[in-house]
Amino acid sequence: MLPSSTIRDLKTRIAGIRPAGPEVSIISMPCPEIAATARPGNFVNIKITSSDQPLLRRPFCIHNVDGERIEVMVKNVGRGTAMLCEAACGDDLLVLGPLGNSFGTDPEAFDAALCVSGGIGTAPMRFLETALADQGTPFHHLIGGRSRTDLLTAGLTNVSTATDDGSEGFHGNVVQLLEHHLASQKPDTRFKVFACGPNPMLKALARFCRDRGIPCELSLESVMGCGIGICYGCMVELQNADGQKESILLCREGPVINGERFTA
Ligand SMILES: Cc1cc2nc3c(=O)[nH]c(=O)nc-3n(C[C@H](O)[C@H](O)[C@H](O)COP(=O)(O)OP(=O)(O)OC[C@H]3O[C@@H](n4cnc5c(N)ncnc54)[C@H](O)[C@@H]3O)c2cc1C
Ligand code: FES
Repeated sequence: MLPSSTIRDLKTRIAGIRPAGPEVSIISMPCPEIAATARPGNFVNIKITSSDQPLLRRPFCIHNVDGERIEVMVKNVGRGTAMLCEAACGDDLLVLGPLGNSFGTDPEAFDAALCVSGGIGTAPMRFLETALADQGTPFHHLIGGRSRTDLLTAGLTNVSTATDDGSEGFHGNVVQLLEHHLASQKPDTRFKVFACGPNPMLKALARFCRDRGIPCELSLESVMGCGIGICYGCMVELQNADGQKESILLCREGPVINGERFTA
């Protein structure tokens, strides 16, 4: 987790909104202090200032850092996300961040990264790609969706896709695509998997990686309130090293966890 001294609560304005897919928008906002310290996997907790409802902020992964701006990729699933997707340039926001821990990208620990995502889970992958590319680590994205319209590939390079209905890319799910992809790779390559997406996908992926001894980190979601460990609204149950159940506050100890904790 980031030291709390790096967390800022900034009043800012929407600088740009662009569509990224059906019901999905990318929102850009100047947040210099957050942009300066954010790491891939961190999230921000956002509130549209002009409205009392919803009362609580909503958490979003940092999708991209562009100079002093940060971007979030938002899927419209309810009241708060609808307000963000329908907001206009110039609207005031409160942005708390960077929050949570980050993906472990130490280049000594692995040779190549496999970035596996499904649906809106692709949101943190652009920032991760930038960090991997900057340190010279080879990476490949494996992106899944039910159909071609669910695939969110904007701004990414080295992408393979899978769709459940076969409308684009590999016909099957993204874990099957990963298996297919690994079959064509050099067997002595030390891969590390970074993933974000729906829980059933992440669970299947975590088991796949455990069974093959591939290190794997997952970015999980839960309902959140404060985002900083005060409200206890984000408790999730994982496994500890002994296979016992253990509850953690996802906003503090996550959202990135070791995949081995998500295999039960
Ligand atoms: C660490 C973290 C990072 C996230 N990153 C992103 C991101 O980059 N892009 C993005 O679009 N979404 C992301 N989410 C999910 C996003 O926060 C929720 O979709 C949002 O809070 C829903 O708010 P709402 O007011 O629109 O929905 P509500 O009206 O509150 O609820 C609508 C529906 O969404 C469900 N829901 C509410 N909160 C969450 C949640 N936290 N996770 C999953 N489902 C939820 C509810 O159960 C309900 O079914 C992230 C969540 C977490 C915890
Ligand atoms: S969201 Fe409040 S404790 Fe985690």
